[in-house]
Amino acid sequence: MTAYNRRRFLDALGTFSATALLSSFSRPAWSRNLDKALHHAEARLPGELAGDEDFWYYVQQSFTTSPELINLNNGGVSPSPKIVQDAMKRYHDLCNEAPSYYMWRILDQGREPLRKDLARISGVSPEEIAIHRNASEALETVIFGLELKAGDEVVLSKQDYPNMINAWKQRERREGIKLVWVNLDLPSEDNDYLAGQYIKAFTPKTKVVHVTHVINWNGQILPVRQIADAAHKQGIEVLVDGAHSFAHFEFTIPSLGCDYFGTSLHKWLAACIGSGMLFVKKEKIPAIYPLFAAGDPKSDNIRKFESQGTRPFFIEQAIGKAIGFYDMIGPARKEQRLLYLKNYWMNAVKDIPKVKLHTSLRPGFGCAIGMVSVEGKKAAELENYLFNEYKVHTVGIEWENLRGVRVTPNVYTTTRDLDVLIKGIREFVKGGKG
Ligand SMILES: Cc1ncc(COP(=O)(O)O)c(C=O)c1O
Repeated sequence: MTAYNRRRFLDALGTFSATALLSSFSRPAWSRNLDKALHHAEARLPGELAGDEDFWYYVQQSFTTSPELINLNNGGVSPSPKIVQDAMKRYHDLCNEAPSYYMWRILDQGREPLRKDLARISGVSPEEIAIHRNASEALETVIFGLELKAGDEVVLSKQDYPNMINAWKQRERREGIKLVWVNLDLPSEDNDYLAGQYIKAFTPKTKVVHVTHVINWNGQILPVRQIADAAHKQGIEVLVDGAHSFAHFEFTIPSLGCDYFGTSLHKWLAACIGSGMLFVKKEKIPAIYPLFAAGDPKSDNIRKFESQGTRPFFIEQAIGKAIGFYDMIGPARKEQRLLYLKNYWMNAVKDIPKVKLHTSLRPGFGCAIGMVSVEGKKAAELENYLFNEYKVHTVGIEWENLRGVRVTPNVYTTTRDLDVLIKGIREFVKGGKG
């Protein structure tokens, strides 16, 4: 966008109340401009706003991303907006003035309001939310906390995340539970096929089904509700790995019909690196042993899952600012923009000979994450080309039956960034700049 267009966009936004204007003098320009852009956006539908580069330009200004590269690996971890980084640094400095006082007596008072806020955006009760440091910690709390005996079966897929697979394998090795593997043929736009793969693996011995809401390798969204409903009919508990779904697109945890849900908050919520969350359905809490022992491991208090010892409270408390930022953009606008960005680059490359897409373009089957490969080439070759020639940072994937480069934009990604990616893919197919 040219400077002229940007100015014209701001001019079109109208005037503000005197209070808003006065308070704006103490705030940085990016924040004042974003305020105006959001004000303007109120009258527009999320789908309409998804392709409005002017609006998203102001969102981009809230981040401090490197101008030296184009980061299209937001699937790994997301940067935090500046307000989140600043809060974390302030809390950190405060902790170092008198750690035991500021950490345990002051900052810790923020934990219950934070629990409420996390519960609000998840659509559940605060009494069902535990604050953790990442998705692995949240999910392993359930994986290791469930009472299972030798011979009990757990259904999971080969396309699940390695940490989770390893946790289940450890239980198999030590306790003799049986892992029953589903091998998904992806991408798919057939929910009956996807759910059916899990359902046909259920037996009278199945106790748990582990479902990854969004497959991290290629961004496939799985029909969790369909799987959960079938599982519950057979008395099977449902654990959802929501590392990649939470705050990525709109849903509430109850809409999934699961018993347990673990997620990172440093991915799509854009909270500080090292934050996560666990949901356990109220009536299921007593039966789950905490990963870090608590006074009463059979208590029905969700806080028994938070005995992790001394930890970075400043990171935890900054989660609240990330929720504020998420609320400000709005879940529907965010989802529509992410889908728009993925489909923007995928549509541009899909007809290039030898290019193969491994993610659906249809809403409901994928959102921000997309995977692409080039016939006859290894994923690492394309990844390296994009980085070496254009400083476009992506990730090459070779996992089970999935091979390709994963591309993950974020709310701060512009279509101009994606045009560089598209150019790079085109050139790579032709054999380089030559
Ligand atoms: C599907 C999935 N589950 C779990 C995790 C683990 O997340 P964390 O690194 O926050 O523990 C990831 C991380 O990429 C993931 O993609």
